[in-house]
Parts: sequence; structure tokens; C-alpha cells
Amino acid sequence: MDTILWGGATASSQYEGGFDGEKGMDTQDCRPYLPRTSNATTETRLLTNERIQQAKTNEAGLFYPFRKGSRGVDFLEEDIQLLQELGIDLYRFSISWSRLFPKGDELVPNEAGVLYYDRVFNSLKEKNIKIFLTMNHYAVPLNIVETYDGWKNKETIELYMRFSEFVLDRWGEYVEYFLPFNEINAGYFSPFNGVGLIKPEQGNYSFTDVFQSLHHQFVASARTIKLAREMKLKGTFGSMISCFCYYPLTPKPEDNLKLVQDEQVNQWFCMDVLSKGTYPYYMTPFFEKNQVVLDTTEEELELLKTYTCDFVSFSYYSSSIATTEEDGKQTAGNLVVTTKNPYLKASEWGWQIDPVGLRTTLNKVYDRYDKPVIISENGFGANDVLEVDGTIKDPYRIDYFEQHFAEILKAKTDGVDVRAYIAWGIIDIVSAGSCEMAKRYGVVYVDADSEGNGDYKRYKKQSFDWYKEFIEEQKKG
Ligand code: BG6
Repeated sequence: MDTILWGGATASSQYEGGFDGEKGMDTQDCRPYLPRTSNATTETRLLTNERIQQAKTNEAGLFYPFRKGSRGVDFLEEDIQLLQELGIDLYRFSISWSRLFPKGDELVPNEAGVLYYDRVFNSLKEKNIKIFLTMNHYAVPLNIVETYDGWKNKETIELYMRFSEFVLDRWGEYVEYFLPFNEINAGYFSPFNGVGLIKPEQGNYSFTDVFQSLHHQFVASARTIKLAREMKLKGTFGSMISCFCYYPLTPKPEDNLKLVQDEQVNQWFCMDVLSKGTYPYYMTPFFEKNQVVLDTTEEELELLKTYTCDFVSFSYYSSSIATTEEDGKQTAGNLVVTTKNPYLKASEWGWQIDPVGLRTTLNKVYDRYDKPVIISENGFGANDVLEVDGTIKDPYRIDYFEQHFAEILKAKTDGVDVRAYIAWGIIDIVSAGSCEMAKRYGVVYVDADSEGNGDYKRYKKQSFDWYKEFIEEQKKG
């Protein structure tokens, strides 16, 4: 069995910055930083048209953190040097759609964007770091959202194909692992980020819009795989979901049934389509109940069947609870809110820490899909402190890594074909959920606060040395 590749990840919108003049405005650029209150995350995640217009004029004088990211564009070479020093095998990053095609519907890409990514791919190649490329990580050019209604429109598939064809053609040879869409099930929980749908001023999203948009992403993913196979690229293609590792709150049969149903719709649905090539049986009653009517063609369904993914990947941060009881104590998690688990501790943001859940998830994913598995995101968000002597002591992150890595190695012994582990936000980046810089995941500290103050200088954290040593040990075998 192959050995595990150990990696680290960023995403363009959270890392790059370089907004002024160099790229078009995208959905993430419209999300303001709002100090933590109970509904700040929802307000900055599910944008209404009013919020978008406010972002365009910036009359309210708010700070838009994704426009600055971690100023990766300015620190690129230094960052890649740090990644080489860390010794990671694999770097996961994404291409900003609106840096290449500022409005998303141009026929020719923006030269500055092309040159920037030439630098990224070439620097990584020079340093011998393998590439896991997320082609699209949430951010959608704003023009596609406003003029085309985001992924709801079949035309957006064609715009994405123009983008993906350019990417495959220019940089396809550099890539080991391709991922057409980050956490595709996020489209369901976070339709603005995931599928570029503006939140109605009153009420909620229409389910038909959300699932129609997801269908179009499935088709775009299949068509991209088709294209890459025709181009005979050596890299393999994956799909990615966010995994929630549900437990039933009690042994009550109804709680266990709820677990199965929550997993099906919230977690497995998108990967079932992308990996098995057909819509799963359980979505028929779900669609009926929620009056979802999809517009699909024979040709699209045939594409899904023929061009399934080669590997499966997922993000895993914490576990969740399934219950039919509505009145349990709630806590946050990646994309979903869940009931508190009395057996687990949680981060400052309420995400429950559960290393064993990662082993369980690896087994479940492998059992269900029987394809190589990659943990494409995992890590611990904390408000680290830069000491006056330039050190950052983050023993909690080392603990988190240590415990989760032990469970990955156990899953490998269970027989799961784990190919890679990718630590999220390897260099501190803006949080995708809360738009804060204070929620840091990196082993490299970036000296900036949630309002964009600071010089963005890089400092190695205590966890940097720990991860570096761990990787060296793994290589010795
Ligand atoms: C995943 C996303 O949902 O979780 C990342 O793919 C995100 O973009 C990560 O950063 C962690 O979430 P957050 O909200 O803590 O940044």
C-alpha cells in the first residue's frame, strides 16, 4: 500500500489578497468582517443583494478581509520557501476564477493572473512539492452571480469550462491531484459561497435553485474530467465533501434512523453522484417532500455516469450529533450547528474535537466508495498569540495533530487506502466561516488582525517544528 503524503493547504480567496486592479470582484470579496455576535456568521455568509451593493460602493466603511487575505501575492516566494523547509510532500491551493477571468465571461484570460499562477506552479515545481489543485474553492466572479444567477444557470457550466480548459491546458501537467470543487456539499448549507446564489431579502433559498445549481456543478466536474482524460493528463481527479461524523444522541431507534438520513442528504449525496455516477435513491423522496424539480438532460446524466472521480476526499474538523429532539444544547461546527457531545471538548469556536471520529470517517468513506481516500482538510482554529520574542506557543495545535495523526495511522492499519493528509490553513489565512484572521490554523503565523492591521510578516509557530519532525519521522518509515 502507498505511503501517506503529508501536506498543507490554502485557498486563493483566503490567502492571496491582491485585489486592487489585479482581479475582478468575486463573492468572497463582498463578505465584510463583522465582530463576533450570534448572527455575524450568517450575515457574512449568506449575502443579500443589499450587502452586495454595500460591498461594491463600500459606503459603510466596512473591512472586506478576503480582498487582503494573508497578502499571499506579496509573500508567495517566502511562503513556498517555508513550505519547503517544513518538508511537506503536497501543497493544496486553489485558483481564483476572477483573477484569471475577472468577470467570468471574457474570452481571453487576464495576463497578470496568468503570470501570477505561472509563478506559483513554477516555484512549487522548483522546490519539488507535489500539487493538489482545487480548481474552484467557493469564490465565484460577482458578474456571474449578478448577470447569470450563479450556478443556477446552465450557461455557468460553459463559463466554468472556459476557465477549467485554460487551467488544464496551461498547468495540467504540473498537477498530481485535481479537485474541480471544494467541499461540494457546502452549496447546500452555504449557497452564496458554494453555488453563488444571492440570499432572498425575505425568507430562505428555494431548494430547487440550490439543487439545480449543484446539478450544474456535478456536470461541470464530469466535463472537466472528460477533458483531462482526452488531454491524457497524468493527474487524477477527486471529489470532496465536508464530513460531519454523526453519532445518535441516544440508542433510541429514531435517533439512529435520523443519523442515517442526515448522513445521506447532508454528507453523502454529492459524493454519491460524483463517485457512483447516479443520483441516489434516497434523494427521490427528499426532492418530492421539498418540491424540488430538477432540469436534467439525458446527455448530462450520461456524462455523470461515465466521468466519475478517481479518488474521494473530505474535510474533517469535528463530529456532530443526530437526534429527533430539538431542545439539546447547541454548538457550532464546520457548516452545521449541532448538539453538544458531553464526551468531547471544543475549540473556542465550539467545534468539538474528536480524533476517533476521523478514523471512523475514513473507514466509512472507504467502505462506501472503495476508492483511494485523501483527507483534504483538517486542523485546529485558535487565536494564537505572537510573543514579544517572536515565538508562538501552540501546544493545543500539536495535541490536535498528534491525536488525529495517530487515528489516521490506525485507519491505515484497518486497511483504509489513505493516500494523503492535508493540514488546513498551513499558513494563517482568513477564516471562511467567520471572516476573521483571529481564527488561525497555520503552523506559520501571519502578523495581522481581523481588521487588516499589521505587517503580515511570517513567523514559525511551535507546531511548525513539530510537524516538520513528524514528516521526517514518517519518511524514515
Ligand atoms: C472548510 C473550507 O469549510 O473549512 C475552508 O473549505 C475553511 O475554506 C475551513 O477555511 C475552516 O473553516 P473556518 O470557518 O474556520 O475558516
